[in-house]
Amino acid sequence: MRRTVKEFREAKGKRLVYLTAYDYPTARLAEAAGVDAILVGDSLGMVVLGYPSTVPVSLEEMLHHTKAARRGAPDTFLVADLPYLSYATLDRALSAAERLLKEGGADAVKLEGGEEVAEIVRGLTRAGVPVLGHVGLTPQTASQLGGYKLQGKRPEEAERILKGAMALEEAGAYGVVLEMVPALLAKEITGRLSIHTVGIGAGPYTDAQVLVFHDVVGLYGEFKPRFVKRYLEAGKLIQEALVQYAKEVREGVFPGPEHSF
Ligand code: KIV
Repeated sequence: MRRTVKEFREAKGKRLVYLTAYDYPTARLAEAAGVDAILVGDSLGMVVLGYPSTVPVSLEEMLHHTKAARRGAPDTFLVADLPYLSYATLDRALSAAERLLKEGGADAVKLEGGEEVAEIVRGLTRAGVPVLGHVGLTPQTASQLGGYKLQGKRPEEAERILKGAMALEEAGAYGVVLEMVPALLAKEITGRLSIHTVGIGAGPYTDAQVLVFHDVVGLYGEFKPRFVKRYLEAGKLIQEALVQYAKEVREGVFPGPEHSF
């Protein structure tokens, strides 16, 4: 049974599992594995579409992938990312969220930023759109943060991230992603909020955890961030299988009699 937003609002202290998925087969696998929530993250721009960052991802691309993921996981709570600049104004945010929920089948949207997006989050939640916040390393604006690196090491940075998370809660977000922040900062934020926190590269003290599907199964290049645990080297296995397929075709081994009519 698909979980409700109310359950996520009351998820404080529960160790919920989020996982990204971007299409029918990966969402099917995530649902069959029993994850609590699927995130159709705009990380799809990098791991599926080959962009250098999440910035080029369009709303049409998010919709296309959200619809596919929903078809693969009809019974799992599904959050879709609002792409870069699609929530620069409340009108734009409402219209993007409307499409992701109505056409895409998402249950909630996620957007990046702290105090600076609190009024947008308030407008969305007042209109009835469930919102997941995202502070710490925010990939859509990573270049302004000095790249893909740990955030909140300096006390003033840590304070900004904490205030951002609190502003999101106050504005009505049902949860907040904490990305690449020190474990003790994540612990403090988790302790100060009554909504659940979802960590990625934020240590063990958040309420929930999220990882990118392609990182978990080894499908995105050689680089593995320190916070990722790789449970499978699927990329290597697939590569070996494809080499074997090509070899067998070239050597006349495939198709054999058992594959022929
Ligand atoms: O886009 C994404 O996949 C995300 C997660 C890394 C939290 O935002």
